[in-house]
Amino acid sequence: MKTLCDCALSVLETENAKEKAQKTREYAALWRSSPLPVGFTDQTPLRPARPEKPELKHASQMPKRRKAGTRASKIALLHAIAHIELNAIDLAWDIMARFSYLSDEHTHKNKTEITLPRDFFADWLKVADDEAKHFLMLESRLNDFDATYGDLPAHDGLWEASERTAEDFAARLAIVPMVLEARGLDVTPAMIKGMKTQNDQKTADMLQIIHDDEITHVRAGTVWFEYWCNHHNKDIEMHWQELVKTYFNGKLKRPFNHPSREEAGMIRDWYEPLADIDFNISES
Ligand SMILES: [Fe+2]
Ligand SMILES: [Fe+2]
Repeated sequence: MKTLCDCALSVLETENAKEKAQKTREYAALWRSSPLPVGFTDQTPLRPARPEKPELKHASQMPKRRKAGTRASKIALLHAIAHIELNAIDLAWDIMARFSYLSDEHTHKNKTEITLPRDFFADWLKVADDEAKHFLMLESRLNDFDATYGDLPAHDGLWEASERTAEDFAARLAIVPMVLEARGLDVTPAMIKGMKTQNDQKTADMLQIIHDDEITHVRAGTVWFEYWCNHHNKDIEMHWQELVKTYFNGKLKRPFNHPSREEAGMIRDWYEPLADIDFNISES
């Protein structure tokens, strides 16, 4: 691996989920020991390679939630989160590779475009490494219950936001970390509580680690989004809201986890006005 983009393409082209996570951890360690150049690629795949299993299904065809407290319901929950983490690994590598043309190590043609310093790539590599850690943790927890990632069908819609924002750097930040990952902050505390009620401290602890790491991912999103807005002289609040209305397919659902969002730099005035509005983008 000569550049960070080589690492990104190698992970994105890896089918096996565990291998994808392990390579990510390896490359992150490599960067920490001897920082690679960012490099450049225009070969980022629109969709990353994925294992044959799980079978990917449309949200409406996913099995109904099982009764809480059963082994089956716990496996379903761990499996669903593992699937999100696997997508998150690819999403983090995708932003590094797809927007590598903005790197300040790359010669720019468009002088008005923003340039991204190495810190940007370092932040996203840390995100990728965290997501890989989360995936491997959940996979080992699934193994404790004689299950493995791939046993159940999984939701096919998670990559949609990535494809929709492939051409727009600011929109990618506005949607992926600042809407989707921020949503993770809202829902995880109830899951942690549920696991504690079931006396499953081990899973509760894992979810707490995930929640705390995710705050730093949302923060990376807000920091670089602000950086972009400052460069282009855009009002952060107005521009974020505009991008959500244009690119987000769904609803910003209450209840929000205001304290965790605030820690991540998400200002209440940005998202409150958009709560519970259905941004259903009809595909043309
Ligand atoms: Fe994660
Ligand atoms: Fe994340």
